[in-house]
Amino acid sequence: MQVLERELSPAAKAPVNPALGAQLSQRIARDFKPRWDQQWGGKFMLHGRTPDSNAIRLDGNDYLSITGHPQIVHAQVESLRKAQEFVVQSGVFHLNQHPTHALETALAAWVGKDDGFICQSGYAANVGLLQAIADAETPIYLDTLAHASLWEGAHAARAPAFAFRHNDPAHLARMIARNGPGIVVVDSVYSTTGALCPLVEMVDVAEAHGCMMLVDESHSLGTHGPQGAGLCAELGLTDRVHFITASLAKAFAGRAGFFTAPAHMRYYILCSSFPNIFSSSLLPHEIAGLAATLELIRGSDDARKRLHANTRRLRASLSELGYPIHQGSQQIIALEVGSESDTMVLRDRLEERNVFSSMFCAPATSAKRAMMRMTLNAGLTESELEHVEGVAREIAPIVKPWDWPIARRARAGQAEA
Ligand SMILES: Cc1ncc(COP(=O)(O)O)c(C=O)c1O
Repeated sequence: MQVLERELSPAAKAPVNPALGAQLSQRIARDFKPRWDQQWGGKFMLHGRTPDSNAIRLDGNDYLSITGHPQIVHAQVESLRKAQEFVVQSGVFHLNQHPTHALETALAAWVGKDDGFICQSGYAANVGLLQAIADAETPIYLDTLAHASLWEGAHAARAPAFAFRHNDPAHLARMIARNGPGIVVVDSVYSTTGALCPLVEMVDVAEAHGCMMLVDESHSLGTHGPQGAGLCAELGLTDRVHFITASLAKAFAGRAGFFTAPAHMRYYILCSSFPNIFSSSLLPHEIAGLAATLELIRGSDDARKRLHANTRRLRASLSELGYPIHQGSQQIIALEVGSESDTMVLRDRLEERNVFSSMFCAPATSAKRAMMRMTLNAGLTESELEHVEGVAREIAPIVKPWDWPIARRARAGQAEA
């Protein structure tokens, strides 16, 4: 004990890090230091003020406001309390009667598929699935704004990855005609802008060119479709889409990911998706919590209605005030200021007035397209929405949204048309 106290006392020797390799040091000096020193003023740009308990939080993805719901907490606590045998191991060893598999088939049935896989995160789900279904001979066509984990999946599969213009099925068709059939990869709702994918047109193009279709439903699972079963279900496309993936850290407010794959592929996936093979599975209380969350979400039509009503209302008032938010239509709202320093000014003006959203910049956006990203939820009250609208009105003459590059480009486009 005495030894431990001495070791932890302030007088103890500071930890020593051996010198970094020359290449790494040069890379940090070249790629990071100038940004840190010159653009960010020696402060991590993504960190603003600490929100207090009155803060209006538009920086989370708990779209249906279910965090801490008694049904979920109860299921987790019961599972933790239950004396049960559990081995921490990779999910590939789980027998078919394992609770994880029951949740996998319940999630799959909900979205209209016959089987699926739980992963440690949405990121792992996208990487693992693409690694299993693509290889160096499989062209992957990704929307320019597809989530980073989908690009990483293409990389892990060593597949040739082709970017097609955002939400542009005609461009996709031209690219497939040039490079051959493969896999078309889109997000149902884009995570930075809240844009909805023209899914019917995308599926038409994929089918016409003999491609498989993968849809990342991270931002529509739970929020869109019958009982929250997602956008493919809403549009009647489930049978024409080969694979559906989703983060369960959005409407599920959990810490996991999911992908569907036909039941006949089960053992193939368990032999080829590295995150499923080489990383340990979720813990029993996490599975119990997610199973309870699924039930809750299925019955959350009122919350879905509130979420969409909040989206319509805030989008309408921000547009009326001159904020150029035309890139999207769903519950994610991009205030795309452009430069990182100007985005910091917007962040500070919002946070001073108790409105907290997330700052996004490269690599989450392209360079010079930094933004404050607001995510709405079902639990926002009338007075909170009024407050956000009041703040947006008050700061508009300071941050001048009509002068942001995205607003200028939109005006130039209208003038040309
Ligand atoms: C569209 C999309 N896919 C996948 C992910 C990754 O999800 P997770 O946070 O569960 O790894 C995200 C999260 O940002 C996302 O927005």
